Amino acid sequence: MRIVQMSDIHTGTPLFRPELLKAAIEETNALAPDLVAVAGDLTTEGYRWEFEEAKRYLDRLECENVVVIMGNHDAKNVGYRHFEDFFGSRSCSMTLSVPEGEAKVVALDSSEPDLAEGEIGREHYPWLDSELRGWDRGPKIVMVHHHILAVPGTGRDRNNLRDSGDVMALLRELKVDMVLSGHRHVPYVWSISGVRVIHSGTVSSLRVRGIMAPTYNVIEFDSEKVEVTLRQPGGEEETLARFSRRAVTTSEIYPAFERFVRYDKAQV
Ligand SMILES: [Fe+2]
Ligand SMILES: [Fe+2]
Repeated sequence: MRIVQMSDIHTGTPLFRPELLKAAIEETNALAPDLVAVAGDLTTEGYRWEFEEAKRYLDRLECENVVVIMGNHDAKNVGYRHFEDFFGSRSCSMTLSVPEGEAKVVALDSSEPDLAEGEIGREHYPWLDSELRGWDRGPKIVMVHHHILAVPGTGRDRNNLRDSGDVMALLRELKVDMVLSGHRHVPYVWSISGVRVIHSGTVSSLRVRGIMAPTYNVIEFDSEKVEVTLRQPGGEEETLARFSRRAVTTSEIYPAFERFVRYDKAQV
């Protein structure tokens, strides 16, 4: 399957560059992906007009499966109310037919009103568990705005997911193939015990870090490999990471996750 991952659109700031977003959307339409994952921070202050603007652009995406999640900026000024008006539920689960079978996509809202930090929260683990445990029909994909793992080249690490350790261990236990995140404005990929944690940069703003340009990710996932390509809207592209489809694990981890966090496992 092919995924286009973009995040941190950031309308509403003078550093927003509409021509970059237009280019990324045109290129995405040409790529005809199975899924477009928009990993949060559509806006800067969470104002309605900012969501309107983001929505106007995203409506140009021709892909049938566009999943949009909240970022911390979208939760400012009670922006989540506008998000729901324009994009629907803040968390959702969907399945989509892909060449590898049926992919399961679970999108989570990690934002907290007016805070830069994020959290999934233990009360949401049973739902996450029930959606993904035992899913063997195709790729398992989770979307969450905040970074679960630290991203290099972003300065002092801050504002990561507050329950990142618990969430990462849960994702490993559920054998999630990919986590799609944004937030740090630097593209980077970690692979831990077969969980590929893929961060996208900012697609359409100059809120960049160091020499990193605005970019988005194109992910190719098939029976052999997972390949992540970094693309500058209207510009160059380069390979960001490449993995074999089958996870290479060199260690077994004990004890059970339950020793650290206990939650009701929903029936599947
Ligand atoms: Fe952002
Ligand atoms: Fe963010």
